[in-house]
Amino acid sequence: MKIKDGVHRTIVLSSIPIVFAGALLSASVYNGDRASTKPGLRSAVGWEIMKLDANREGRSVEFTHEAHQLYMKKSGEGCVVCHHLNLPDDSSSSCYECHKDMRKESSIFDHELHTRIYKNKGAHCNECHGKDRSREKAKVCVDCHPDYTGPASLYMKVRGYESAMHGNCVTCHKKLDKKLGEPMYSECSFCHPEAE
Ligand code: HEC
Ligand code: HEC
Ligand code: HEC
Ligand code: HEC
Ligand code: HEC
Ligand code: HEC
Repeated sequence: MKIKDGVHRTIVLSSIPIVFAGALLSASVYNGDRASTKPGLRSAVGWEIMKLDANREGRSVEFTHEAHQLYMKKSGEGCVVCHHLNLPDDSSSSCYECHKDMRKESSIFDHELHTRIYKNKGAHCNECHGKDRSREKAKVCVDCHPDYTGPASLYMKVRGYESAMHGNCVTCHKKLDKKLGEPMYSECSFCHPEAE
């Protein structure tokens, strides 16, 4: 894609300047659209030991995923203590797939996508709306997704990744500190060595 863009621009560059300006304008609009539909964060790297650096800004946290699977097997809590919710037809979905921005809230309900699904199936808007198409009267998520039992608004204001990570990792590590009798597992530097 990048290379093609480059070639395209050089060709345009050597022709009429007005066309060049137009091409640049449409190119930037196009790129903007693409950026907004692409999830902002990316998957952890590794399996037994994961590197968590969802925004790829270089501040990574090392996470012993496999060891934690064993801890939670022993304690009887299982995967669900962290993998508390999944995408439809999936298990152990990655956190970044729903906690889509490092800091900002985001929605996991894609109106466009749902409209497309039901356009293909024929029923279209009536699948979720009656005559009154207000958001309050729309069908609730759980009618179609058995795990999504909360109010629709819960899935449209999903906390950022950092908040999800701290809510999960730090909450449990604080309990370890309580047992230990001193702060260690929940100290910033325990997970962020650069913060020492
Ligand atoms: C038990 C582990 C743990 C502890 C303790 C912890 N964090 Fe984090 N923190 C994480 C994880 C995991 C992430 C997500 C890292 C990523 O994907 O870049 C994160 C992300 C962050 C980010 C965003 C990083 C980025 O790349 O934008 C900041 C800032 C941060 N933590 C600050 C703190 C501070 C300050 C403390 C202490 C008050 C703290 N953390 C304690 C695990 C921890
Ligand atoms: C202590 C918390 C915790 C426990 C317990 C845990 N996981 Fe995870 N798991 C994570 C985190 C954090 C990630 C990385 C998420 C991300 O990339 O946003 C992850 C990622 C994954 C992924 C996606 C890997 C990828 O490459 O995208 C799978 C699959 C997975 N876990 C399965 C499991 C299974 C199965 C169990 C139970 C046997 C389990 N996990 C237990 C926290 C946990
Ligand atoms: C299928 C989507 C989805 C996935 C995948 C997901 N979450 Fe969440 N998470 C939510 C929603 C929805 C909420 C509720 C809204 C909120 O509090 O942000 C939530 C809330 C949370 C909370 C606050 C819970 C509370 O009781 O206060 C934490 C902590 C959290 N998620 C951590 C994680 C971690 C860690 C992972 C990956 C191991 C993960 N989430 C994967 C959708 C998801
Ligand atoms: C899978 C279910 C589903 C389908 C299919 C669907 N909608 Fe929606 N619609 C919703 C939900 C849920 C909301 C509330 C979204 C929000 O709060 O952001 C909504 C919101 C709306 C709103 C905004 C209402 C307001 O109060 O602001 C309009 C208008 C709307 N839909 C029209 C349509 C039309 C037209 C179609 C067909 C082309 C359609 N919807 C298909 C579920 C659906
Ligand atoms: C009328 C049924 C219906 C309702 C209501 C509905 N969905 Fe869906 N949704 C679907 C179908 C069908 C799919 C396609 C995947 C599948 O087959 O499960 C889907 C897919 C999804 C996906 C996966 C999208 C992806 O990118 O893979 C998410 C997340 C989702 N829905 C969230 C929601 C949330 C949140 C609500 C409530 C606000 C909701 N849905 C309401 C039928 C519905
Ligand atoms: C439900 C509890 C729980 C959660 C959630 C949790 N941890 Fe832990 N963590 C533990 C336990 C138990 C240990 C082992 C303590 C010991 O015996 O020293 C541990 C140890 C660690 C260690 C030291 C290496 C090791 O495996 O002993 C790191 C690093 C760590 N956790 C990072 C994280 C990060 C990052 C997250 C969030 C993605 C997280 N933890 C979530 C319970 C948890």
